[in-house]
Amino acid sequence: MKNIVVLASGSGSNFQSIIDSVEAGKINARIAGLISNKPGIKALDRATKHNIPCSIISEKEYSTHLEFSKTLLRQLDNWDTDLIILAGYLRKIPTLVIQNYKNRILNIHPSLLPKYGGKGFYGMNVHNAVLESGDTESGCSVHIVSEEYDKGPILDQIKVPVYKNDAPEKLAKRVLEQEHILYPRVISKYLTTFSK
Ligand code: GRF
Repeated sequence: MKNIVVLASGSGSNFQSIIDSVEAGKINARIAGLISNKPGIKALDRATKHNIPCSIISEKEYSTHLEFSKTLLRQLDNWDTDLIILAGYLRKIPTLVIQNYKNRILNIHPSLLPKYGGKGFYGMNVHNAVLESGDTESGCSVHIVSEEYDKGPILDQIKVPVYKNDAPEKLAKRVLEQEHILYPRVISKYLTTFSK
């Protein structure tokens, strides 16, 4: 059975949708662990509740970026990771990890990439930018993580409408609901494309 490791920095509602899909047998894998960059986040509570091992690895605890990168890599290797899932992880993944897990790191982004991706486009910034642009649709994208931020190959997207006088919070909620459908679906399919 393949091992998934999830990296999260916040609420972890996407992490929850993956837990639910694994438990329902819709994703044929084991969640080997959760890595967070800080303590006290809701994603850690979700992991504990489902008996998923956790590791908090915070860059500021390490004197160099290389030390931090190696610690992340060691934890991933210890868990015999097949696929890394970024679920609201608000840190750039070290190049060393991207190179060691080439084509084996997925991310979800709350826009129709390549629109509203890259530096500064996270959280409500994305939805505010969509509303300011006058776009009539938005959505979410799952892509493979490459060394260029938010630029790796897109695996799938779901679109949502943007209404006249839409509020950013309402758009965010509409997109997040679709993320919970899209991410488990893409993970399940992607896992079948590589052998252990
Ligand atoms: C989601 O909007 C996702 O697209 C982005 O970070 C957010 C994470 O939300 N990468 P949650 O922690 O899964 O609720």
